[in-house]
Amino acid sequence: MNFKVPRGTQDILPSETWKWQQVEQIIDELCDLYRYKEIRTPIFEQTELFQRLVGDTTDVVQKEMYTFTDKGDRSMTLRPEGTAPVVRSFVENKMFGYPDQPVKLYYTGPMFRYERQQAGRYRQFVQFGAEAIGSADPAIDAEVIALALDVYKRVGLTKLKLVINSLGDTECRSEHRKALIAHFEPHIGEFCADCQSRLEKNPLRILDCKVDSKHPLMASAPSLTDYLNEDSTRYFDAVKSYLEDAGIDYEVDANLVRGLDYYNHTAFEIMSSSEGFGAITTLCGGGRYNGLAEEIGGPSAPGIGFAMSIERLLLAMEAEGIAFEDPSALDVYIVTLGDAARHPGFKLLGELRAAGIRTDMDYMDRKMKAQMKSADRLNARIVLVIGEDEVTEGVVQMKNMAEGTQEKVANSDIITALQEKLN
Ligand code: HAM
Repeated sequence: MNFKVPRGTQDILPSETWKWQQVEQIIDELCDLYRYKEIRTPIFEQTELFQRLVGDTTDVVQKEMYTFTDKGDRSMTLRPEGTAPVVRSFVENKMFGYPDQPVKLYYTGPMFRYERQQAGRYRQFVQFGAEAIGSADPAIDAEVIALALDVYKRVGLTKLKLVINSLGDTECRSEHRKALIAHFEPHIGEFCADCQSRLEKNPLRILDCKVDSKHPLMASAPSLTDYLNEDSTRYFDAVKSYLEDAGIDYEVDANLVRGLDYYNHTAFEIMSSSEGFGAITTLCGGGRYNGLAEEIGGPSAPGIGFAMSIERLLLAMEAEGIAFEDPSALDVYIVTLGDAARHPGFKLLGELRAAGIRTDMDYMDRKMKAQMKSADRLNARIVLVIGEDEVTEGVVQMKNMAEGTQEKVANSDIITALQEKLN
């Protein structure tokens, strides 16, 4: 039988995982710097959570969810995104009662969407997301955007573009909705079946349609910007001025609508403008979701957040030619010659590791020359050679690979000698 990794998923092999670990470390450090705390929610949730919060008429819910019935006959879904689970947890754990508001959370973990596979689009991908829940201060919108941008800057990306828009509040959304229906209704027969069903349920989604994107009515559709009321305009202006305080460049794009239903006021995306990045240029997406906690029975707790996939971040780094520093060099490799040296060598291995020295040895019964080659391939900085004579004498031969030197060291002095050389 010939098993393969499922379509749209990938094995991340040891030759790549160290890059992921470095990115994750940068994320943890930056979130700590901004006082966002990590939250870990389950990989699956009740299907209804996503239907309610992400929106029944979105592509994510309608076409892309991995939904299954469990043995208790409940409909469950592998999470396609992290905001709905985090808001669920916020309400369930009464985080609105925490003394320090807003509650600032982040997560890094796999998300699942049954999408058409292409470069930068996977069926299982890892999102880093951050959510600040409990504040309607436009300054926190700017903070959240600054955090996302800082991650990209810390890994060295420079070809970035921040695009923002305002989707307004419920009142302007409802006026805009009426205008959209009036605009599309006379010609709705020329649109795909999905758009036809979106007309009444959620006409804003029509603007997001991949099938009919070239239809002339798309470009002439009424823009939300024209329907923003005074409050929404004031809010948007304030967000922009805080971005300016933070020294963040942005472009306003009135057509930015986002693919999930929960947004109002601020919506944003960060794109890569690197030429090598390919067709999908969006690295990160986010926005404000003021009604979400209430939608699932919680109190009013306005929130804002974003998510980015690590896969796309790494692709963008590749496109900009940014290399990581490979941290995999070994401190010490122990070469043992003959049976008498095996036990002392193995014992020393444990002692060095206990002292925090990254050490390995041969487990393939290889000859001295092959063991030395192994040490070389593993980039060992120091090789300790133990033969029968050394065992009798209570010493090891210490070879410094970079300097090409060799000296005899007494067993009792090994750790101190190594620590000196390695520092
Ligand atoms: P989203 O725009 O659906 O938003 O996804 C955010 C990011 O996840 C995308 O910009 C992209 O980096 C990554 N992503 C999405 N789908 C895929 C895929 N199939 N393969 C690889 N990467 C992908 C959300 O998920 C919202 N929860 C963001 C948010 C948080 N809004 C407020 N808070």
